[in-house]
Amino acid sequence: MISPVLILFSSFLCHVTIAINTCPKPDDLPFATVVPLKTSYVPGEEIVYSCQPGYVSRGVMRRFTCPLTGRWPITTLKCLPRVCPFAGILENGAVRYTTFEYPNTISFACNTGFYLNGTNSAKCTEEGKWSPDLPVCSPIKCPPPPIPKFAKLSVYKPLAGNHSLYGSKAVFECLPSYAMFGNDTVTCTAHGNWTELPECREVKCPFPSRPENGFVNYPAKQVLYYKDKATFGCHDTYVLDGPEEVECNKFGNWSAEPSCKASCKLSVRKATVIYQGERVKVQEKFKNGMLHGEQISFFCKNKEKKCSYTVDAQCIDGTIEIPKCFKEHSSLAFWKTDAWDVKPC
Ligand SMILES: *[C@@H]1O[C@H](CO)[C@@H](O)[C@H](O)[C@H]1NC(C)=O
Ligand SMILES: *[C@@H]1O[C@H](CO)[C@@H](O)[C@H](O)[C@H]1NC(C)=O
Ligand SMILES: *[C@@H]1O[C@H](CO)[C@@H](O)[C@H](O)[C@H]1NC(C)=O
Ligand SMILES: *[C@@H]1O[C@H](CO)[C@@H](O)[C@H](O)[C@H]1NC(C)=O
Ligand SMILES: *[C@@H]1O[C@H](CO)[C@@H](O)[C@H](O)[C@H]1NC(C)=O
Repeated sequence: MISPVLILFSSFLCHVTIAINTCPKPDDLPFATVVPLKTSYVPGEEIVYSCQPGYVSRGVMRRFTCPLTGRWPITTLKCLPRVCPFAGILENGAVRYTTFEYPNTISFACNTGFYLNGTNSAKCTEEGKWSPDLPVCSPIKCPPPPIPKFAKLSVYKPLAGNHSLYGSKAVFECLPSYAMFGNDTVTCTAHGNWTELPECREVKCPFPSRPENGFVNYPAKQVLYYKDKATFGCHDTYVLDGPEEVECNKFGNWSAEPSCKASCKLSVRKATVIYQGERVKVQEKFKNGMLHGEQISFFCKNKEKKCSYTVDAQCIDGTIEIPKCFKEHSSLAFWKTDAWDVKPC
């Protein structure tokens, strides 16, 4: 005979047992999904863990059955990111990265003289491949430089295939009678083109004019051009002020305009002076006058201190100013001492 109390009690037990034996929602695992995902499972129900795209499992147990105890077994499953192939080295460039794992992105840069042939960044995909493809650093090259009008290349050493590498130089020169404006040297730039080309222009100069008291010689041509030369000279007793030879410059002017300057007649009859560091007698040294530009030093007397000092004088185009302090004695005043015989101050 079963007592009603026992029935009640066992049905209560039964209820408790059933309630305890359902499995709860399984633990979350990083980067994993559970199928099917529910809040409770009855014993015998099965679940499968799988890694999310881009992750792969480490550990064997992936499939579990809800046991009668209602406790899911401890899972050793781990979902780890896929690792893309090593991409830490870029020849002639550099790679910026943290890791090569999904879902990271790495970026690229090339050294000077190279350009990025391809993408500047790539992502490690779910499949564990780089996308887009990894780039390469290719050398920057320039095609042969264009030749400006009236110019030719004077220095140019292309590589095989007529290309030049980044930083290479080429030098132009102008055809005769053409003058260059701009830099004669061009450089292969990072853009794969050359720096600005120079320009060659025809330049004419007017005929040089004859200097007064002199002459000029120049080529017997209809027109005088850039780099043509003219030579100047002066008639005697005149001195050329400026270079003997001048050149037609690129501005259509002559490099200089020399002129002829007159020599000086000295009003002093007798004096000892310093000329080019030496004492000379003007009446001997400058019998025929002083040439334009020549310089001498006269002696003057300091009466109080009874000593002498010198003052310079220069012949400038026929004129020389004799220092005021210079005193020329009459040849009769033989008792007077000339300044050049007095001790220097
Ligand atoms: C750019 O890279 C591709 C693939 O690596 C290569 O075939 C090509 O020659 C490169 N281009 C230049 C100009 O170097
Ligand atoms: C390079 O240039 C020269 C002269 O301009 C030409 O004869 C030659 O065919 C070129 N070579 C190549 C590979 O292009
Ligand atoms: C011409 O360019 C070169 C480099 O390309 C530079 O070194 C040089 O100073 C330039 N010359 C002049 C006159 O600007
Ligand atoms: C070279 O190419 C760059 C980029 O295309 C451009 O900005 C520059 O003006 C070019 N230089 C010359 C001298 O043509
Ligand atoms: C040429 O010379 C003249 C006179 O010396 C001057 O006035 C002119 O500015 C010069 N022209 C140039 C382009 O230098």
